Amino acid sequence: MVGSVGRLFIGVDLRSDTRQALAALLAEDGVGRLPGRVVPPMNWHLTLRFLGEVEVVECDRLLMELAGAHLGNSFEMVFDGLGAFPRRERATVLWVGINEGESQLQTLAGVVEEAVAAAGFPSEDRPFRAHLTLSRIRPPQDVSTVIAATGLVRLRTRVDEVTLFRSHLEHGGTRYEVLESFGL
Ligand code: 2AM
Repeated sequence: MVGSVGRLFIGVDLRSDTRQALAALLAEDGVGRLPGRVVPPMNWHLTLRFLGEVEVVECDRLLMELAGAHLGNSFEMVFDGLGAFPRRERATVLWVGINEGESQLQTLAGVVEEAVAAAGFPSEDRPFRAHLTLSRIRPPQDVSTVIAATGLVRLRTRVDEVTLFRSHLEHGGTRYEVLESFGL
């Protein structure tokens, strides 16, 4: 595509200590062998808004809108337990859910959506569901026992910035590049 900056999305990156602590918690609980295509800890993030292929001009507008957006204050969130989309018995996505901080993430996703709309992108129809994807499963599988076998996955962390990511689909897997971060 002429003038494309690539495949972009807006999300919340994880601090490296949070990434390590969460990886250790999951490993401790025997979730070393998750079903499906497992997302490596270095790629873990929360998606606020997926954009897809973005043109240079659109990206410039988006950067301007995000820089001017009232993203609000930083806040604490708690990763709490595993879940699945669309349901445990026929899961295509296995995720870690968010307990405390979920409503702030929802609000943040709303502000990001406004900035994205102001930058001229078509609106997102899918409702926002805060989650951290652990694995993508095709064909769908029943992950009830995996979830039941998992002990307490509970971790508190702080959200203090929003990140514009570019994803690179490479032979070794997906690599996420931070294009820009916006402080809360
Ligand atoms: P997921 O984690 O729920 O799969 C980068 O690819 C991020 O954007 C992923 O975290 C993914 O969410 C999300 N994403 C990828 N493709 C998408 C699409 N077509 N629509 C919405 N979100 C998408």
